[in-house]
Amino acid sequence: MLRKEQNDLLTQTGPGTPMGQMYRCYWLPALLADELPENECPPVRVKLLSERLLAFRDTDGRYGLIDEFCAHRGVSLWFGRNEESGLRCPYHGWKYDVTGQCIDVPSEPEESGFCRKIKLKSYPLVERGGILWAYMGPPEKQPPLPEWEFAMVPPEHRFVSKRLQECNWLQAMEGGIDSSHVSFLHRGELNKDPLFKGSKGNQYNLADAKPHFEVVESAGGLLVGARRNAENGNYYWRITQWVMPAFTMIPPRADHPVHGHFWIPIDDDNCWTWSFDYRVTKPLSAEQRQAMRDGWGVHVKYVPGTFRPLANKDNDYLMDRAAQKAGKTFSGVEGISMQDASLQESMGPIVDRAKENLVSTDNGIIMARHRLLRAAKALIDKGVTPPGVDPAHQRVRSAALVLPPDQPFKDAAKQALMVQPDVAHVSV
Ligand code: FES
Ligand SMILES: [Fe+2]
Repeated sequence: MLRKEQNDLLTQTGPGTPMGQMYRCYWLPALLADELPENECPPVRVKLLSERLLAFRDTDGRYGLIDEFCAHRGVSLWFGRNEESGLRCPYHGWKYDVTGQCIDVPSEPEESGFCRKIKLKSYPLVERGGILWAYMGPPEKQPPLPEWEFAMVPPEHRFVSKRLQECNWLQAMEGGIDSSHVSFLHRGELNKDPLFKGSKGNQYNLADAKPHFEVVESAGGLLVGARRNAENGNYYWRITQWVMPAFTMIPPRADHPVHGHFWIPIDDDNCWTWSFDYRVTKPLSAEQRQAMRDGWGVHVKYVPGTFRPLANKDNDYLMDRAAQKAGKTFSGVEGISMQDASLQESMGPIVDRAKENLVSTDNGIIMARHRLLRAAKALIDKGVTPPGVDPAHQRVRSAALVLPPDQPFKDAAKQALMVQPDVAHVSV
């Protein structure tokens, strides 16, 4: 459990908050590259870390992430005209470039130099791996671009989606490192979902609902090891990567694509759940890509024209009591992602962690909170760069493997937990 001040500290990410300052140390996924598909396309509203911003792509293909509101009298520039290397406010015609610099104030004589004194807040926005990444921290501390493996493989090897999640980022992220719920909540999915079924590991998963957890610190975050019984006294290990503040990679199953998430605060009550799938040694098949588009695996179906899931809190997540009773789904909600999101949203926008009763399988969550609190304190008190900013911390993998009983997973799986070019994930 957490005291109220600790819970506030971890869940609030607006400007000036400690956790907000920490989030502003990282390159964050801000929007899908497809949302700005061509030069001079319509701008997109982006709310991140409680700041209302606007992303656009100018005549020359440059990306910009600027304050949503015009410096003149506060109109939303979402209504702006994207033309001739800038975004023009439709109210009185002030125009801004991708850095937020005002480049034209039609009412003022050009010689006055007035427009040069006007600059909107802006952040760098860079494309990598089908995602537009934003860095919202101090310019002098801008880190190298992210090197998550899924973002570095060729585009045919990868699928990325995002969905709106209507709760605080932390309770969503905690679901990502809570491997013990898989044997319950996702029980119905393991042998049905086209992106999961057919793995030997699923049998171990279903046969042993009382895994033993071992959590150890890594350079960038934690390794969450879940141990289940396999044959001949050996153990089946599933090792999840958590890299601060909000990246997870879920252990693979057979040679299915490997998936994972980021949870990025929109504001304190909402976050973006980013979901990726990739394979290192071969492209995704057409069937896999279609299954992902259709909402299988960690992806979802949407309310058309939005990133809000089709199953959402306004329709009780399309709860199917008959499927629940028949054991087709454990909770009555369909699909891995919405099974997670429905329960995480059901806790309310920000769960009160003073009321929890944690058990040993919550160790990953407990250690992650400590690590976040420690890193936030070190950043605020001493300016220490938090774990996970260094691209070396990002070149990691999850793994699933069978090990003899006397081998600690951290040592035995050392190679498997690092990025190895042209070598597939270690998987069962
Ligand atoms: S409010 Fe934008 S130009 Fe006047
Ligand atoms: Fe889950």
